[in-house]
Amino acid sequence: MPQLEISDLITEVDPHSGRRLPVRRAEVIEQLRESGDERAVRIVARLPADQDDVLDPHAVDRLLISVHTELQRLSEELRIGERLVDLLGPLFTAIRSTTGEPGPYRLVDVGCGLGYLVRRLATTNALGADVELVGVDLNAALVGEAERLARAEGLNCTFVHGNAFDLPEAATVYVSTGVLHHFRGSALTEFFQAQAASPAYAFCHFDIAPTPYAPLGAWIFHRARMRNRLGRHDGVASALRAHTDETLLRAAAQSGIRALLYEPRTMANPFCTTLRPVIGVRPHLEAPLRRALKRDARRLVGPEHLTGATR
Ligand SMILES: C[S@@+](CC[C@H](N)C(=O)[O-])C[C@H]1O[C@@H](n2cnc3c(N)ncnc32)[C@H](O)[C@@H]1O
Repeated sequence: MPQLEISDLITEVDPHSGRRLPVRRAEVIEQLRESGDERAVRIVARLPADQDDVLDPHAVDRLLISVHTELQRLSEELRIGERLVDLLGPLFTAIRSTTGEPGPYRLVDVGCGLGYLVRRLATTNALGADVELVGVDLNAALVGEAERLARAEGLNCTFVHGNAFDLPEAATVYVSTGVLHHFRGSALTEFFQAQAASPAYAFCHFDIAPTPYAPLGAWIFHRARMRNRLGRHDGVASALRAHTDETLLRAAAQSGIRALLYEPRTMANPFCTTLRPVIGVRPHLEAPLRRALKRDARRLVGPEHLTGATR
């Protein structure tokens, strides 16, 4: 039975209107029970619901904000912001040199949650003043909290509630962290296709590397650093659901964009690897990106480097 994440099941929104839909607790419990996850069943059974068994949306929002606040700690400890800048800096250098356009360019963080990445980029101004920073999430409570935190610090960035692929203004580059494993099968291909079909020049999505140690590493980290039972459960479930290098490269390549993986399994120390990015660039950008990355360009591989058996 497939591993499920509780946070995927306890909220539902219409992806087009963004309207919140009611979620019945018994239906969530049934799905989790069918997947054989009795621990998750016990966590959901404790969530408050009304007389019609609809989960209390305010309690769910508070819970998800608290889980994502703990999740931010993971991003800080794994230095995801710095690692993203190590790649996005050269990527924007390549874009500036090939387009000849003065900007502004737009970075869109798909599924930004509490907006840690966008807020960090705004605080450090690491990508330059010509890059607008936009975080988008289908979850109104998370993106509302992201907006509140950014305003409290007077940061120059924007947060939008909705579908990242329905924005009125096109992105130059799409990014995300910890989002890819939520998309399975054809939904993963469609995720990349939406970006390839847009005017964007590139994407860069960080997600969990499925090393043999990832589930144990996730368990230790979440046990030690997270208090919330749902967060602990979903942290380990995410590691178990992580896509292989082959799945990501194949799905990204199907979109027609040049798909690349930075530090694939064959080049990384499995004890130290946590999240690694899949990158997509318009074909004319690959050479300038490699030049801008200098020595690190050797860590960037395409689907042609996969073995015949897994390609
Ligand atoms: C696990 S959370 C990741 C949050 C954040 N990136 C982090 O690292 O803390 C995944 C988020 O992606 C959002 N999401 C999924 N597809 C989306 C889309 N097409 N547009 C905007 N948000 C999306 C979901 O609402 C969910 O909040």
